[in-house]
Amino acid sequence: MAIRKIASMGHPILRQKAALVKDPTAPEIHALLKDMLDTMTDAFGTGLAAPQIYENKRMVIFQVPQEPHNGDPERHQDKDAPLTAPIILINPEIEILGDDMEDDWEGCLSVPGLRGFVPRYSHIRYSGVDHEGRLIEREAHGFHARVVQHECDHLDGVLYPQRMVDLTKLIFDSEWRHWVAEPNDENSDD
Ligand code: NI
Repeated sequence: MAIRKIASMGHPILRQKAALVKDPTAPEIHALLKDMLDTMTDAFGTGLAAPQIYENKRMVIFQVPQEPHNGDPERHQDKDAPLTAPIILINPEIEILGDDMEDDWEGCLSVPGLRGFVPRYSHIRYSGVDHEGRLIEREAHGFHARVVQHECDHLDGVLYPQRMVDLTKLIFDSEWRHWVAEPNDENSDD
């Protein structure tokens, strides 16, 4: 187990376009994924992208609340539902489904101490492969779609403040907790 240092906004690694992973099943990729999981867990993160631990590779991991097996995931999304096992996406791609966007608060392990109100597409399809080379392809709405967009932005050198349209809503965590957060809101970073 290795908890890695997390790069903070301003470090050039966070502004680069990350490189495609040639062999997702390679032992060094598996070792890196283990470090990403350890680092994300230790930092209470919702997600982590490889560049955040100084690895210029197109790899992200994240956890989102489980969606109900029946019915419309958009309608029944529950932020308090138990989390999925960590989802691994190597060389991910996002397809935007529809023009709808929604705003919500985000944090980021590379932007410590801050929160921002960020517009994201509401409905996406994403694809990639996991560490065994299996194709992953899913549709996602709402918070799930938001997390995937946030993590994949890291692979193109984009941090959430660059997606914001109203910088009066880039605020300190302490103020977010005081003025914005509901009692049950999780205080986790992507
Ligand atoms: Ni982030």
